[in-house]
Amino acid sequence: MTQTHAISETQTRAGHDHILILDFGSQVTQLIARRVRESGVYCEIWPFNHADDDKIKAFAPKGIILSGGPCSVLDEDAPAAPEIVFEMDVPVFGICYGQQTMVKQLGGRVAPGGGSGEFGRAHVDVLEHSGLTQGIWDKGAHEQVWMSHGDHVAQLPAGFTVIAASEGAPFAVVANEDKQFYGVQFHPEVMHTPHGRDLLKNFTHKVAGCAGDWTMQSFREESIAKIRAQVGDKKVICGLSGGVDSSVTAILLHEAIGDQLTCIYVDTGMMRAGESQQVVSLFKEHYRIPLIHKDASDLFLGALEGVTDPETKRKTIGRLFIDVFDKCAKEVGDAAFLAQGTLYPDVIESVSFTGGPSVTIKSHHNVGGLPERMNLKLVEPMRELFKDEVRDLGRALGMPEDFIRRHPFPGPGLAIRMPGEITRDKLEILRKADTVYLDEIKKAGLYDEIWQAFAVLLPVRTVGVMGDGRTYDYVCALRAVTSTDGMTADYYPFEHKFLSRVSTRIINEVAGINRVTYDITSKPPGTIEWE
Ligand code: XMP
Repeated sequence: MTQTHAISETQTRAGHDHILILDFGSQVTQLIARRVRESGVYCEIWPFNHADDDKIKAFAPKGIILSGGPCSVLDEDAPAAPEIVFEMDVPVFGICYGQQTMVKQLGGRVAPGGGSGEFGRAHVDVLEHSGLTQGIWDKGAHEQVWMSHGDHVAQLPAGFTVIAASEGAPFAVVANEDKQFYGVQFHPEVMHTPHGRDLLKNFTHKVAGCAGDWTMQSFREESIAKIRAQVGDKKVICGLSGGVDSSVTAILLHEAIGDQLTCIYVDTGMMRAGESQQVVSLFKEHYRIPLIHKDASDLFLGALEGVTDPETKRKTIGRLFIDVFDKCAKEVGDAAFLAQGTLYPDVIESVSFTGGPSVTIKSHHNVGGLPERMNLKLVEPMRELFKDEVRDLGRALGMPEDFIRRHPFPGPGLAIRMPGEITRDKLEILRKADTVYLDEIKKAGLYDEIWQAFAVLLPVRTVGVMGDGRTYDYVCALRAVTSTDGMTADYYPFEHKFLSRVSTRIINEVAGINRVTYDITSKPPGTIEWE
């Protein structure tokens, strides 16, 4: 999909101090960005090898953070920071691998771990005051940090001093105060370093001098101005899925361009109970946004008749969705733009050291393919935001809280929560079970603790006994996971009492189900959805 018409990221930071994070491939680089942004400072993550001198200079960061990474600086061709990083007269903060490459590049020495290292919780002794630790760690303190390293710094470059040391890392915190270069062997971005957030804030605010004025209100106002400038008096269409991302995109667009926006909501017949009514009432009745509500359930369910293979289901739905959306868009007339709720994690080009294309686990469905087919340009106002920031933006836009906090719902809908053939009867059974389950979760006050919870209807029938009679009905599986980004997940540890309450209610209230199970698989090795 062409990205050339997307709003330039450079516009978001205009007028705000910003930080550049160079990524060396750590699993937790995104956490650095989140911590920095939480403190009101805009930042971007760039792969270390895609940042040439001119690009870095043009970005004009107030400070640069070098992330951790899986390589050893002792390897031949080890990743290194562009030299310009140390020549621009801006503060630099090297984290783990970032510290080691900084030390090596400036003339110090890194020693191999020799099979040992520090992994997990560790403690550092604070030996000196420094700009990085000011107001947080006093000289003489013994502080908890989270380490994950084999190699360690063994000799400092000229101008550096040791600020803190641990058993396995004699140079756990180092500083060149004149140049405002700091390095830490541990990971301040993870929660297990209790003062990590404060140390990062010290770097961005006190050392680099960032104002910390990047808020969702300011993002909202600036986005509105940018959208107006990009779209002019042209028409924009936006596909609504019922999820948070597309909803926030639509409301933001509506604030910016009013009736130039038309939303399209395609009911595939595989939505949750009440979903379509909620979307229509919020957008059409509450916000009065022009909305095409297409009931395409016959088309989708007809095409899926007899289909049991998960990938065929996904591809069929994806193809039909584009066809229906295309037809609806033509009703709008001469739309020139398509608005999408693309988020920053989709945009970040993470450094991959594994090489080769990754395996397709599931074909995700969105409106990809449409812009080319219809010659539409993209409006993606949230390309720089993380999921939790989208929720904050929704709040800044005054959206109802229960809409903002909704669990994610996949594009293919209930189709991928029903292994085997999809029928209207089974969809009805699944909707009822799902409603009971979510009702109990909300009553127990657990909805916000859980990333995603839903019922799955299995293509298996088992024998039961109800009253004096034999039953032969479907099995329902319940799924609930915690996660931060959907990439990895843990199953939610419900209390047994809760599970038995839900099970009893589903079996009593939902005809067609006589057995309930709870899925205790994490991701990996499982995935969140069942197909
Ligand atoms: P999996 O099942 O891959 O899901 O562990 C991870 C997250 O992505 C959602 N998901 C989708 N979202 N279109 C979407 O918009 C899709 O095709 C799709 N498949 C999975 C899933 O609900 C979970 O939040």
